[in-house]
Amino acid sequence: MPHRTMLIATAEGPSHPQPGPTGRGGRTAACCRVPGTPMVMDRRHFIRTGLLVSASVATLAACASTPGEETMTEDPTPPEPSTAAAPEGRVLLAYFSRAGENYYRGGRIDLDVGNTQVVADIIAAAIDVDVYRIEAADPYPQSYDLTVQRNVREEQDDARPGIADPLPDVAGRHTILLGCPVWNVQAPMIMRTFVEGLDLTGKTLHPFVTYAVSGMGRVRSDYVDLLPDTTVTQGLAVQGEDAGQSGGDVTAWLRRLGLFTS
Ligand SMILES: Cc1cc2nc3c(=O)[nH]c(=O)nc-3n(C[C@H](O)[C@H](O)[C@H](O)COP(=O)(O)O)c2cc1C
Repeated sequence: MPHRTMLIATAEGPSHPQPGPTGRGGRTAACCRVPGTPMVMDRRHFIRTGLLVSASVATLAACASTPGEETMTEDPTPPEPSTAAAPEGRVLLAYFSRAGENYYRGGRIDLDVGNTQVVADIIAAAIDVDVYRIEAADPYPQSYDLTVQRNVREEQDDARPGIADPLPDVAGRHTILLGCPVWNVQAPMIMRTFVEGLDLTGKTLHPFVTYAVSGMGRVRSDYVDLLPDTTVTQGLAVQGEDAGQSGGDVTAWLRRLGLFTS
């Protein structure tokens, strides 16, 4: 069972994420855009297959694993400054992650800890943040296929799945790190429940995702559309299978944001 993260807790001391049961490869996320082709793969194909096997072969074959290019976006913004003023108030790290059966290098794996949580744990070990785990009031199934089916229904219904706990207080905070898996090339609908439930006016949102083949997909651009009064930075995309080895990319990203100074 996934461990349940506290509702708003200050990260104290390192918590070292463990590799998945079969280990996670050492490749870091890289931009997978093929010149002249769309950034994201075809969404209907993803839905129909419910899996990524054929798409992953095509897409990953086109990937260039370029060191240092762990971010990707459909809507590039200028790179974050290498130094930034200390954020006002405490930084909030909020994330959604689903343990259970998931995609893994063309097959399936049972994850005790979801990939996005692995990255969130790395962040929480690196910098001083308050952590909020977004948990569905109606938990998603353990089964990958049933989760895909439920997500398709939620997208078709433009649903706002309920969140189990009260939302965090963002008053007095300026900076939010927001993590989720990529589902059907976008954020799970519960992320809309989350961002629409908060007043993020004037705040800065740094998105991060884990994914199988799509990179950031539409996650960042959807936040930009949903949150016109919020600054949404370029973000970080980590391939899920490599989440346990993403510490270097994560700290480099935090350093660029001015959040990691040691
Ligand atoms: C319902 C569902 C839909 C998914 N859709 C995509 C997708 O469109 N593109 C992609 O690259 N990965 C997709 N994946 C794979 C996840 O993004 C990836 O495994 C991620 O690391 C899972 O993070 P988590 O363990 O924190 O939930 C999907 C996974 C699920 C369960």
